[in-house]
Amino acid sequence: MSSQTSSVIVLGTGSYVPDRIVTNDDMAKIVDTSDEWIRTRTGISERRFAADDEATSDLACAAGARAIEAAGIDRSEIDLIIVATMTPDMPFPSTACLVQSKLGLPNVCAFDVQAACSGFVYTLGIANAMLLSGNFNKALVIGAEKTSPILDFEDRTTCVLFGDGAGAVVLSRSDVPNVGILGALGGSDGSDPSLLHQPAGGSAIPSSTESLAARQHFLKMNGKEIFKQAVRVMGKASADILEQQGFDSSEIDLVIPHQANMRIIDSLAKRMKIPMEKFHNNLDRYGNTSAASVGIALDEAYRAGRIQSGDLLLLVAFGAGLTWASALIKWQ
Ligand code: ACO
Repeated sequence: MSSQTSSVIVLGTGSYVPDRIVTNDDMAKIVDTSDEWIRTRTGISERRFAADDEATSDLACAAGARAIEAAGIDRSEIDLIIVATMTPDMPFPSTACLVQSKLGLPNVCAFDVQAACSGFVYTLGIANAMLLSGNFNKALVIGAEKTSPILDFEDRTTCVLFGDGAGAVVLSRSDVPNVGILGALGGSDGSDPSLLHQPAGGSAIPSSTESLAARQHFLKMNGKEIFKQAVRVMGKASADILEQQGFDSSEIDLVIPHQANMRIIDSLAKRMKIPMEKFHNNLDRYGNTSAASVGIALDEAYRAGRIQSGDLLLLVAFGAGLTWASALIKWQ
């Protein structure tokens, strides 16, 4: 185990999901699917879709405000905001800058991280390093997504999988060694972006009437291949962070995995030899909220009393890119 002279701890957690519940039966009215197919193939029963006038920054602000309240600090103490998202309000400025203004945070460095569904865990590692550098004191880390506008409601293989929401934490430097974020890592393989992508709207395929007509502004996915890769990289990211920090999987108290598919989480549990009772899952209620999923699950688990002082938590995610990331947290 690496020994630290100072640490980065979680001061508070928060999350937000939109009010509108969309059940599998509701989806079956839009595409040729069924509650039975979605539940048995994915574990999802329902998801939340944001209102037309609710942007990703609004979801992010609601979760962020709850995390700040839980941290019990004055919001002016925050000097760093990082928002992980693949569905920003607009290509620029960053969603983090919009959150800075909407939450009224006076002196902050603000930027977005694009690592798709791995974004929240990637961002924990980035914020951890920035706080340990000594240049920042308190960070607001948010994973937020409004996936609903990029879903193709003519493609049953993708539109039933995703939902909207946001999860957040306030991180702080602490003088107590060896607590909080013990370590974090991220990986990538960009050799086949078409596995999961939104083809148009960037510099490769700028928005045009042709790109709109070809439905290239919607999320496209090779689900079968992503599934295989996900099982592999979730296992690798988990094993690598445990080895890096000198722990055995039997020492983990709670796993917060990215919520994409229950069968992927089942495979991870078997591979890591960690019983399912040690996983916190909410996929059934929210579907895959991409960069928000780990943050929402962490907040839920904490508020449900599933995380106690001294507990060892494994956070692990994968996403488009491909990307993958993991973090170990010893709860303070
Ligand atoms: N309803 C009914 N039938 C469907 C649906 C649906 N919603 N979707 C697909 N089917 C059909 C297919 O057309 C196919 O029919 P066919 O045999 O007649 O051709 C059949 O069901 C089986 O399809 P598969 O694609 O083989 O189904 P599979 O068991 O692989 O499950 C799924 C598909 C759920 C997408 C799975 O592959 C998966 O979860 N993959 C990983 C996806 C993922 O995790 N994505 C998130 C990445 S994170 C990020 O960065 C956003």
